[in-house]
Amino acid sequence: MEKLLVIIYLLISVTLATSQSVTDPTTFLRCIIQQGSNPPDFTSSVTYIPTNSSYTTILRRRIPNLRFDKPTTPKPIAIVTPTTWSHIGTALACARELSLHVRIRSGGHDFEGLSYTSTVPFFVIDMFSFKSVDVNLTEGTAWVDTGATIGELYYRIAEKSNVLGFPAGLCTTLGVGGHFSGGGYGTMMRKYGLSVDNVVGSALVDSNSNTYTDRVSMGEDRFWAVRGGGAASFGIVLGYKIRLVPVPERVTVFRVVKTVEEGAVDLIMKWQSFAHSTDRDLFVRLTLTLVNGTRPGEKTVLASFIGMHLGRSDKTLNVMNRDFPELKLKKTDCTEMRWIDSVLFWADYPIGTPTSVLLNPIVAKKTFMKRKSDYVKSPISKTGLGLILKKLVEVEKVEMNWNPYGGRMGEIPSSRTPFPHRAGNLFNIEYIIDWSEAGDDVEKNYLARAREMYEFMTPYVSSNPREAYLNYRDLDIGSSVNSTYEESKIYGAKYFKSNFERLVNIKSVYDEINFWRNEQSIPVRS
Ligand SMILES: Cc1cc2nc3c(=O)[nH]c(=O)nc-3n(C[C@H](O)[C@H](O)[C@H](O)COP(=O)(O)OP(=O)(O)OC[C@H]3O[C@@H](n4cnc5c(N)ncnc54)[C@H](O)[C@@H]3O)c2cc1C
Ligand SMILES: *[C@@H]1O[C@H](CO)[C@@H](O)[C@H](O)[C@H]1NC(C)=O
Ligand SMILES: *[C@@H]1O[C@H](CO)[C@@H](O)[C@H](O)[C@H]1NC(C)=O
Ligand SMILES: *[C@@H]1O[C@H](CO)[C@@H](O)[C@H](O)[C@H]1NC(C)=O
Ligand SMILES: *[C@@H]1O[C@H](CO)[C@@H](O)[C@H](O)[C@H]1NC(C)=O
Repeated sequence: MEKLLVIIYLLISVTLATSQSVTDPTTFLRCIIQQGSNPPDFTSSVTYIPTNSSYTTILRRRIPNLRFDKPTTPKPIAIVTPTTWSHIGTALACARELSLHVRIRSGGHDFEGLSYTSTVPFFVIDMFSFKSVDVNLTEGTAWVDTGATIGELYYRIAEKSNVLGFPAGLCTTLGVGGHFSGGGYGTMMRKYGLSVDNVVGSALVDSNSNTYTDRVSMGEDRFWAVRGGGAASFGIVLGYKIRLVPVPERVTVFRVVKTVEEGAVDLIMKWQSFAHSTDRDLFVRLTLTLVNGTRPGEKTVLASFIGMHLGRSDKTLNVMNRDFPELKLKKTDCTEMRWIDSVLFWADYPIGTPTSVLLNPIVAKKTFMKRKSDYVKSPISKTGLGLILKKLVEVEKVEMNWNPYGGRMGEIPSSRTPFPHRAGNLFNIEYIIDWSEAGDDVEKNYLARAREMYEFMTPYVSSNPREAYLNYRDLDIGSSVNSTYEESKIYGAKYFKSNFERLVNIKSVYDEINFWRNEQSIPVRS
């Protein structure tokens, strides 16, 4: 008995000793050199510690959000930029040996910076160099490495075919790694669903540095989890195999804007019944922004109806005049273009921009950003809408995207992937708060306005749980530094609804020690 107690005591003290993680970059570098020495894999040549002159450049090149690009932002003790699988294995061996947290970064667009900052000591594995895209026209598939951006993916598809595309996000510098592992929606979601609905294979590295090169070896459960459950809770995804989708040679885009004074309220009322129920070839986003009103110093809301139709403009006009005649869409509002040029249109490049800009993975213009999200399941009344528009003017700094669901999105069962927001959703709301002035007080003020608008929206959006989109990462809806089950359930239910429990089960089988954790990861069952 006494002996047993001594053993237990020893076990506990060893655990405590090893859970004390190092914060010294040179210790990490020494570990990398040692772990990668037999056989030599030269991981140190792709390891940057703060004393390396390019550490800051490497760290900052995939930080689009100035909110996490300040001198006070907690920095990694090292950044490993693997170019081979063996570099990843070595980096993970040091994470184990030194009890260090790992952050995985692909495009770095996480809205809370979870891929490159943390409150605990950590290092970053940056997938930047893993960017190959292999398109197989015979199969109509592609393999895409997670460090590629979706712009690079779109470019490589269009290079081979003008009648194939892929349903993914609008911002072309998003990384495949984070974007796909959280769902991935874009202008073709009503026709083809999310990015993850078109993923047919994947490859993953686990915490023991084992590599699983296909869906069979990683197991159906883990394959399910990395398609919308946030892959960072399960391992490092090396790439995804995707099924390409047919697109017409010409698509049509349009943008019609109306202020409240010009009748926006009635148009928004109509949009609420039209946008989710119209042809699935058609995606009409509604954007609410503020502009100067007619009287000096006065602001008003501008409603922009931004459309994409998978077809030629005469067909677009037919559908729009049938389903949304109140908008009075005209031929001159419409522009026909190749699908790949519509990608540039949605990413806000001027018409005529060469598609080669898609190959530049660096965000040119950085801003301070905060996002929140909601789901709307029944139409907002005209009275409610009036109050919302008034509130937007009052809080001033918040803009909104309303993204219509329906079509294919409503047909896919909620449990097919971890992303649960399927049938029954009219549209998703993205709250956009961007600013360019530095300063803690400024930031506090913007964040407070975001939260005020979000509070105000409570009666109009989903409840029990108030649902949220994982890729619009928002730590306001709950976080758990130690990823306890009870704390994690709060955000888990919002992001995944009842799929959360299955994610917890999978996590408990494959990552019992909770190696892969962050402020909003999936916990192990307690
Ligand atoms: C300007 C902007 C526009 C956006 N537009 C859209 C849009 O149109 N549609 C949409 O659906 N979303 C959109 N998003 C949200 C976007 O999908 C998410 O931010 C997404 O997570 C970004 O992926 P990333 O690889 O760039 O991010 P990262 O910050 O690199 O990663 C995000 C998360 O995924 C994890 N991760 C990254 N790579 C891997 C990997 N290889 N293996 C395991 N885990 C990994 C990270 O650790 C982190 O937790 C937008 C975001 C921004 C900033
Ligand atoms: C960073 O510096 C260390 C030694 O100080 C060196 O071993 C390593 O190769 C350097 N990293 C890069 C990417 O040059
Ligand atoms: C494309 O897929 C087909 C069918 O699986 C296969 O035979 C062919 O080798 C692939 N082509 C390339 C270039 O990988
Ligand atoms: C809006 O009004 C402000 C003054 O209230 C003015 O400075 C600004 O230039 C106006 N913006 C536009 C786009 O007209
Ligand atoms: C997390 O766990 C550590 C160690 O068990 C503890 O010291 C710390 O207070 C916990 N943090 C929170 C926020 O619960």
